[in-house]
Amino acid sequence: MKAAVLNSIPGQLEIEDITIDSPGPREVLIETKAAGLCHSDLHFMEGKYPHPCPAVLGHESAGVVTEVGSDVHYVQPGDHVITCLSAFCGHCEQCIGGHLSLCENKNTELVRPSDKPSRLSRNGEPVNSFLHLSSFAEQMLVHEHAVVKIREEMPLDKAALIGCGVTTGLGAVFRTARVEPGSSVAVIGCGGIGLSAVQGARIAGANKIVAVDMNQSKLELAEAMGATHTVNAADGDPVEQVRDLTDGGGVHFSFEAVGLKDTAEQAFRMLRHGGQATVIGMIPVGTMVEVHGVDFLYEKKLTGSNMGSNQFRTDMPRFVEMYLDGRLKLDEMVSKTIELEQINDGFEEMKTGNVARSVIGF
Ligand SMILES: NC(=O)c1ccc[n+]([C@@H]2O[C@H](COP(=O)([O-])OP(=O)(O)OC[C@H]3O[C@@H](n4cnc5c(N)ncnc54)[C@H](O)[C@@H]3O)[C@@H](O)[C@H]2O)c1
Ligand SMILES: [Zn+2]
Ligand SMILES: [Zn+2]
Repeated sequence: MKAAVLNSIPGQLEIEDITIDSPGPREVLIETKAAGLCHSDLHFMEGKYPHPCPAVLGHESAGVVTEVGSDVHYVQPGDHVITCLSAFCGHCEQCIGGHLSLCENKNTELVRPSDKPSRLSRNGEPVNSFLHLSSFAEQMLVHEHAVVKIREEMPLDKAALIGCGVTTGLGAVFRTARVEPGSSVAVIGCGGIGLSAVQGARIAGANKIVAVDMNQSKLELAEAMGATHTVNAADGDPVEQVRDLTDGGGVHFSFEAVGLKDTAEQAFRMLRHGGQATVIGMIPVGTMVEVHGVDFLYEKKLTGSNMGSNQFRTDMPRFVEMYLDGRLKLDEMVSKTIELEQINDGFEEMKTGNVARSVIGF
């Protein structure tokens, strides 16, 4: 099958013919229908996060099940599924507590042991899977705990977005921060993740939703998604601009959806007393984030969010309902549908900040 392979870091993706194995007892083979380009893939291509090569990247996808292992009962061939990198074991302390994205056995029980044939291979040599999924490929072979079944009316290109960006942004608002109706929210960075956080804040009933970006077209899109105010970070200190919009006090909840030290610090600094900043962006390994210690006296909180603290088999079908009843806007989030062969151009465009999401159609 055709797949986009990362052979060196930093590096671009190369379209190659690779081999995918048959499902083991608890595995599912999926025909990939759509895969979104998320900035996290780019972080790995650029070496901001380590990963062994060669690897097939991609982790935001939806498709149709074609074959299941002997012990799989949850799905069967023909089922439409969204994949999720928050593959869960189901019996560790985190899973039992509902924190699937923090599962402690993710990299032991849910992957194939190194002495067994690899799920993906090239000329008999193993190719690494990425985040349990490897979506930039015509087929995916995944653990059954990395998929959720969805309604067939749901268009699979929009469903793919729910696989990472939408669940991360909405989940950060609903599950990590638990935004209260009537509160004020700021979202820094309006890509696929930030726009989803803006939508989450609207759905959660926030009164004031301030979108921050440096790209004017993104701010316009954020308004269409529910932002009540916008701040162009290129026009001066975004913290001051957000304070000006909130009677000088700052916001109750802020979300960082870029992945930089500066923007994470801004998210904390724009909080009002008792507020909470949630860092969603992947800040490069080794980078330290600094905050003013005195702010803790005002009960300001700084936390992270992994994949929106999801319980994805509950959350994703709910998000599908929200799309089908018109509350969750996904059509507007797809800036471009591309072919697998155009994937490097898609990532080049991501660097300009002009696209919300490019989605590969298979
Ligand atoms: N925590 C998680 O589980 C999780 C999941 C998915 C993605 N992420 C991370 O979330 C971040 C956002 O991902 P994305 O796919 O939406 O990225 P993206 O590239 O599509 O969007 C980033 C946006 O930030 C804007 N931006 C850049 N610098 C800025 C600045 N200084 N101030 C304000 N805006 C700025 C860009 O114009 C762009 O609109 C990435 O770091 C990604 O790795 C984290
Ligand atoms: Zn992602
Ligand atoms: Zn677990």
